[in-house]
Amino acid sequence: MLDYDSLTPPSEKMSVPETKKRSPDFFKKILENHGLTLGPESQDLLDRMALLDERTGTFEDETRANEYADQIFAYLGDSHTISENRLSPEKKQHIQLATLLTDIGKTGPHTANPAEREVITALFAITEDVNVGVITLGEYIERFFPNEKTQAYMQKVLEPLLEKDRNLWEKFPHFSQMTMRAFFNLHAGWTYNILRENQVPIDVTMTAANHHMLEGVNPNNILDHEGSIGPETSISRPVDQREIFVILLDKYDARRNRAVKRSHEEAIDWLEMIIKNNAILTETFKDRPEIKELFLSCLRDLEHALVSTKAIISPEDQQQKAA
Ligand SMILES: [Fe+2]
Ligand SMILES: [Fe+2]
Repeated sequence: MLDYDSLTPPSEKMSVPETKKRSPDFFKKILENHGLTLGPESQDLLDRMALLDERTGTFEDETRANEYADQIFAYLGDSHTISENRLSPEKKQHIQLATLLTDIGKTGPHTANPAEREVITALFAITEDVNVGVITLGEYIERFFPNEKTQAYMQKVLEPLLEKDRNLWEKFPHFSQMTMRAFFNLHAGWTYNILRENQVPIDVTMTAANHHMLEGVNPNNILDHEGSIGPETSISRPVDQREIFVILLDKYDARRNRAVKRSHEEAIDWLEMIIKNNAILTETFKDRPEIKELFLSCLRDLEHALVSTKAIISPEDQQQKAA
């Protein structure tokens, strides 16, 4: 057991503006509004939602994605729209709930103690653009946490935690040498375990934990080679619009609202390119071309829904309009 008191706590990077604090109870109500009522045994999930919200912009991203989802359902429900992707209210609820929960793993593994959660969340809180395929975890800590005592603290907290998960990053000789991509990819599996431990329904858990499938992130093999989700569970079924919209909304929002803000058209073109060239869709599922087709048809609906409802007007678009 680490003696946390003898270590210097993390630097000012981990402190938060007062205005950003929302309580676990706030998140309990948000989940209830989306049809998920949690008992006291799920307090851990709510605490994590509050921590992630305090430290990062994740909840804002998810809220925007959920607003896009509302617009898509309005569009799909329009009597003039003909689409195979028209969804039941239950599926809408499923998508919105999964969207709220996808990134809860950014607070660390389900076994993480409070200090470990703080450190992992601090790493996910950095928003600067770096080449995550190249920079290692050790270099990342040095770059973004210049205080040497903070660096030592973070390394000490992370080592035992990540060594426990060594099978997930075994191709690197030491945890600090894993690339940031490898580190960031761990969050989907952590999401899976956290949601399982907190009594979130298995089908929503599967959808949430599958949200990086295009990057080849497949925690607990929740997706099999046939393109079925939850092969070993009671909900085993082919990937459908629920998983696809969660993935597309996450990526669309990132393209519109992260460091470089792209227009609606640019975000759609980029997503189309990603889907058409994606190795998972093209190789792993080469005998299931309908999966890629479904991605593309959901993308078309997203494209038209967000334009037709005029839901998306970024500050840049507004400036352009005013100019
Ligand atoms: Fe994610
Ligand atoms: Fe995300």
